[in-house]
Amino acid sequence: MTAKPEQFPAIPMPLTRPAFDEDEIAEVRKVLASGWVTQGPAVAAFEKAFGERHQVAHALATTSCTAALHLGVLALNLQPGDEVIVPSFTWITSAHCAEYVGAKAVFCDVDPTTFNIDVKSMEAALTPKTRAIIAVHLFGLSADMDAINAVAKKRNIPVIEDAACAIGTTYRGKPVGSLGDLACFSFHPRKAITTGEGGMVTTQSSDLANEVAAFRNHGANRTKSTTDPKPWSMGTFDHLGMNLRLSDIQAGVGLAQMRKLDTLLAHRRQCAQGYHERLGGISWLRRPLEPQGYGHMYQSYVLWVREGGMEFRNKVMLHLEKEGIQTRPGTMAVHNTAFYRDKYKLRPEDFPQSTACEQQTITVPIFPGMAEKDLDRVAQALKSVSA
Ligand SMILES: Cc1ncc(COP(=O)(O)O)c(C=O)c1O
Repeated sequence: MTAKPEQFPAIPMPLTRPAFDEDEIAEVRKVLASGWVTQGPAVAAFEKAFGERHQVAHALATTSCTAALHLGVLALNLQPGDEVIVPSFTWITSAHCAEYVGAKAVFCDVDPTTFNIDVKSMEAALTPKTRAIIAVHLFGLSADMDAINAVAKKRNIPVIEDAACAIGTTYRGKPVGSLGDLACFSFHPRKAITTGEGGMVTTQSSDLANEVAAFRNHGANRTKSTTDPKPWSMGTFDHLGMNLRLSDIQAGVGLAQMRKLDTLLAHRRQCAQGYHERLGGISWLRRPLEPQGYGHMYQSYVLWVREGGMEFRNKVMLHLEKEGIQTRPGTMAVHNTAFYRDKYKLRPEDFPQSTACEQQTITVPIFPGMAEKDLDRVAQALKSVSA
């Protein structure tokens, strides 16, 4: 049951439209019939499938990528006064996760050709207080993990991959999710697979996995729980934990989605290729780049408007809206948001490339089931804008 276009009456061509069929319904039915709707076998099976696909020893399902990032900084034991380096051009929770534990989000700039972390700017942001780096694989393109890890390793700083957008992508042939100390994924409906809301932490480290599991589950420390449980055994609670567990109902949806992942990824890449061929002749825009060795799964297809700054970019977006095509800016420059601007007295020019990315990017629709004629329609609308 692919969601029907008429369920989105206000937006003839939405940015995204999740694809479900009888598979998801069957999995959810199974979970409901079993009566085991949380902390059960569907979550375990979803975690196993996701972990195997990303070649990691541990995968822990959670309620969102924001929750996954929060669990990541807790597992790394970040403290008030610690600093965490975050590229400014990202979704805001890449930075918020540091602030949740009283640490400070310290921004660096991005490379506008890839939209990912600028390693020189990242190095310039290092201080003796730096305790973690958040490496974002924005829009599904992997960040330069070798360069980031080399800097981090020299100073013994852990790296969290924010792989919210990058399910199933690769870097130099290896799946993302296994390239830093921890990685965090999102199953929001704009991602390659969705459980409505949902997220996953992946790691190769048993110690970090145990910490994540404890913070996810009210602080119950699974390594210290008794091996001979009695009816009165409550386990050991030595963390200030939360409840950030994914339900088995959602995991059932996730399991069915995982079986389609390769097909969904192939289709996204086909759509990206289709856009690439159609948009080559438009002088005022730059198509997304895919450097050699860096996987791109096109969670978003993001265009760079070369001319006319934000004013012209907005004109293009309004034109597409009139044509019934939904668009969004690529994402935000987090240092320009009121929270960070006011807290740390930041100015747009402090991270000029991130500010330019915020002002000069457009995301166009890409979703399961998108057809050639849909690509034609978006391309035609873009071509009919005059610079
Ligand atoms: C880079 C990045 N990080 C984190 C998130 C947060 O994900 P979630 O909505 O699952 O909390 C998003 C969401 O789009 C994202 O794009």
